[in-house]
Formats: sequence, C-alpha cells, structure tokens
Amino acid sequence: MTEEAKTLSVPVRLGGGRGYRVEIGAGALARLGEAARKSLPKEARKVALVSNERVLKLYGERAVSSLKGAGLEVSHYSMGEGERFKTLRTAERVLEFLSESGLERSDAVVALGGGVVGDVAGFAAALHLRGVAFVQAPTTLLAQIDSSVGGKTGVNTRAGKNLVGAFHQPAAVVVDTATLKTLPRRELTAGWCEAVKQGAAGDLRLFERTKRFLKEESRRGSNRAAGANVVELDGGRDGELARIIAAQCAFKARIVAGDERESLKRDDARSRKILNFGHTVGHALEAVTSYRRFRHGEAVGYGCVAAGEISKRLGLLDGSELESLREAVALAGRLPSAADLDAELVGRALRKDKKAVGGSVRWVLLESLGRARVVDGREVPERVVLAAIRAALAAPPNPPK
Ligand code: NAD
Ligand code: GLY
Repeated sequence: MTEEAKTLSVPVRLGGGRGYRVEIGAGALARLGEAARKSLPKEARKVALVSNERVLKLYGERAVSSLKGAGLEVSHYSMGEGERFKTLRTAERVLEFLSESGLERSDAVVALGGGVVGDVAGFAAALHLRGVAFVQAPTTLLAQIDSSVGGKTGVNTRAGKNLVGAFHQPAAVVVDTATLKTLPRRELTAGWCEAVKQGAAGDLRLFERTKRFLKEESRRGSNRAAGANVVELDGGRDGELARIIAAQCAFKARIVAGDERESLKRDDARSRKILNFGHTVGHALEAVTSYRRFRHGEAVGYGCVAAGEISKRLGLLDGSELESLREAVALAGRLPSAADLDAELVGRALRKDKKAVGGSVRWVLLESLGRARVVDGREVPERVVLAAIRAALAAPPNPPK
C-alpha cells in the first residue's frame, strides 16, 4: 500500500462554506506540500515554516523538501522550546521574521511542532498583514488530536495562560503519526489524557474506543517499559493509531463546526465549552505548581478525575462511570504525584480561571460518560469542590500493574 492510500482525511466544515481537511497517516509529512498547494490561494509563492530546534532537526528536512517539491519558496524560523516561550515577545519575533521573509497576503505560515508552536505560529499568522493563511503540521499527540484543529491561537501573559489570542482557522492540517515515534513518554501520556477528556466529555463510543486502544497497549506492556513510548507504532498498531487520531479529530471537528467561537450563549452538551472538561482544576494545578510540575495534559488528567468526583458528589454521575473514567486516565500513563498539594490553594487558584463568566467559574461536569453538563460555579458548594479535589489528588490514577 502506498503512503497516500493509508492517509485518512477528516473534513472540518465551518459556516459560510468555509472549511478544511485534516490529513492523517504515517508518513503524511511527505504530502505537506501538496496539501498546502491545494488549500492555499493559487497566487501563493512563499511559506514561512515556524518550528523549534528539536523538531526542525527531526522533521524539518522532510517538511521543507515536500513544500519545495510543491513549488513553494520556504524560509524557516526556530522559536524557543516549551511553554515559557509561548509569549507576546516570541510572537513579535515571529512577526518580524514574517516581514523580513517578505510574506505577502497570498502566502502562508506553516507550523511544524507541538501545541506551543502551533498556537504561536497561528497567532502570528492571524496578525501578519491582518491575517495570512496557515497550515498546521502537528508533531505531538496533543496537537494532533486537539490543538491543531479548531482555530484557537494565542499566547500566555503574566496574568495567565492563553489570555491573548485570536480565532484563526488553519487552511489545512497534516498529521504525520510517525512523528510520534520520537515523542517522549510523558508527552504521549499528556496527549492521551486529552483524548480521554474528549471522549468523556462528548462521545461515549470515542471514549470506549480510546480506552480499548490504551488497554491493548498496556497489555502489550509497551507503556510500562522504562523510557519506552506508549505507542511503539509497530506490529500493525499504527493503522489503529491513525484511526483513533482521525476519530478524535472528527469529534473535535463536529464540536467546532457547531460552535466555532465558543459562544457565551451556549452551555449545552454540544457547545465548545465542553472541551474544557478537566481544565478548571487542570489549570489551577498548573498555576499552583508554577507550570513546572505537570505537562498541560497531565494536569488535565487530574482535572478530569476531579470534575468526575464533583459530578458524582452532586448525584449527576454514577460511581461505576467515575471508576471507568479513573481507569481511562490511568491507562494514559503515570502522572506526577499531586498528593502534597493543598486542596484549598488549588480551590483558590481555580476561582481565577479565565473561563469564568459573570464572575463565576463554569464547571464542565458529567451527567454520564460522553455527556457533559455546564454548571454555574454558584451551584457547586465549596465543600464539594474541595472534597473532590482532595479525592482526585490523594489517589492518582496510576497505570495498572
Ligand atoms: P509542546 O508544544 O510544548 O511540545 C511538547 C514537547 O515535545 C516540546 O519539547 C517539543 O519540542 C517536543 N516535540 C514536539 N514534537 C516532537 C516529536 N515528534 N518528537 C520529539 N519531541 C517533540 O506541548 P504540546 O503538549 O504539544 O502543546 C501544549 C500547548 O498546546 C499548550 O500551550 C496548550 O495551551 C496548547 N493547547 C492549545 C489548544 C488549542 O485549541 N489551540 C488546545 C489544547 C492545548
Ligand atoms: N481545546 C479546547 C478548544 O479547542 O476549544
């Protein structure tokens, strides 16, 4: 079978006839140029590739050669690595680079890397000349199933994460699942936590399917071997991996299509707000540990369990469903301990969450696995929140022995 035959394609259909495709498969980077050509204006001549040193070293050549093969002139910029570089300062440097590269309105930015690169590059694309096209080539699991789809771009400020940004949809997304072979185990765990989040919040079948995949990985023992990646991408599992990623992208695409800009008026079980499941406590955990202890997805893993605990304590979620959620988070991989963290401190931090509306936190809770309910913070007693946080932090969902 050719690489092309193995590529899966997920449409993202937006209002007003807009939309784009997510191309997924092992080796898909070879088709980056073709995907860019198809989705960019026919006048496009140049692309500015934004990445970081590590990713450029691993995949830069493949990406550049594919783009050049499609007749595009390529310049590249390497930004600093990690969340601490997701700043206005970095965005400003990228913007300077786009100007120096002579990127015109019909040209485009290509983001090659994880969510940090994608969010900054997309934000710069939204600002350069008041908006040029951009193409996402995500190389972390989190970026492949979540951040590259949906058009949220932005940076962090001293006041908090993702507080400055723009909605700017990509023209195309090219997911090369083979890039996950070099991804450190913790980054895979973080990505799987977000995958569990998506299924739990909005799609029971996706939740069960993701869990089955992780169980099989766990059975094979690949995610327990020291230093090994959760996904080893051999023995025929890469096909199923691509299908799971495609199913995750299709879920995200459905939610984004129905509520592209996360309307303030929408609080229903299909609104984009439900994608914040696990994020209220997750963000608070990141904040109280100064963004040093947890990968974002790991904190979301704890956050999902905490939101599940609240849901159960409010009589919304059945105990067996909470257990199933805990098990799914455990299958995603080992999380850093949180047992030493003070629940009250976490409780105070979450009240500052930027998802607050009209002065109160919006909790995304569960009525059942696959069905979320957005609840005003004033309806959730403080003692319930604190007890749930304590329960989630004290007993981390660890991988089955
Ligand atoms: P990241 O971008 O920091 O990448 C994690 C690490 O993996 C980095 O060190 C990176 O250099 C490295 N890396 C990337 N690809 C690699 C590969 N194939 N092999 C080896 N190393 C590789 O982290 P992330 O988890 O991808 O993204 C987190 C960010 O995404 C956060 O800033 C979060 O706010 C954002 N996010 C955005 C959205 C959205 O909708 N825009 C959604 C979820 C998360
Ligand atoms: N990751 C949340 C969203 O895209 O809305």
